Amino acid sequence: MVTKSTNYHSILYFIALVIIKLVELVRRIFWAIFLGFIGKSSVIEGGVIIRNPKMISIGNNTIIAAQTSLIPIGPIVIGSHCTTGIGSVFISGKILSIGDWVHFGPGCKVFSVNHDIRNVHSCMMAKPIIKESTIIGDNVWVGANAVILSGIHVGKGAVIGAGAVVTKDVPAYSIVVGVPAKVLRNRMIEVTK
Ligand SMILES: CC(C)(COP(=O)(O)OP(=O)(O)OC[C@H]1O[C@@H](n2cnc3c(N)ncnc32)[C@H](O)[C@@H]1OP(=O)(O)O)[C@@H](O)C(=O)NCCC(=O)NCCS
Repeated sequence: MVTKSTNYHSILYFIALVIIKLVELVRRIFWAIFLGFIGKSSVIEGGVIIRNPKMISIGNNTIIAAQTSLIPIGPIVIGSHCTTGIGSVFISGKILSIGDWVHFGPGCKVFSVNHDIRNVHSCMMAKPIIKESTIIGDNVWVGANAVILSGIHVGKGAVIGAGAVVTKDVPAYSIVVGVPAKVLRNRMIEVTK
């Protein structure tokens, strides 16, 4: 039996749904105007920190999770079908490029910029920063709280273990873990065994 109260709740539910869809639409329009590029069905969740939005390009079906920080000095290019973990931080110097189908666990940090520590007689923070290129290939999984340092290339299909600090290039399809990150094994060899 349909009661008055059921009707009332259905109407409230419908109104809430319309409001949510409208807010989503306004957010999409906002980001489409202010970002360098954002592809279709990509989502920027709440609480995201974005500086220099025109230097950021995001492909299709990508989720920039809540509390992610995107800080470009140089361009940040994120491919399609990617997800950034909650609370991840991306700071780009020359370029920070992320392929398609790349997934970051929560709390990851990826940099393509360094402070200049070479001369002990001058203040590090007063010197120009060192801008580099950090490139992450397609189909990479970066575990929670991993750190990828500036200038690193991560080959396609690689896995970065939770908590790893990546200081050297990561070969395609390898699994790296630890601090500093070392190759645990290669996914390709597992498949061909
Ligand atoms: C890297 C990873 C995928 C490897 O998984 P796996 O192949 O099943 O690895 P195993 O559990 O068989 O461990 C193999 C060895 O590596 C070590 N190891 C595994 N993950 C490690 C990590 N993150 N850091 C350091 N060592 C690690 C294990 O202790 C083990 O060492 P041992 O041989 O000396 O005992 C996994 O451990 C991991 O870190 N996943 C990320 C999880 C995550 O962050 N999820 C968030 C949601 S996206």
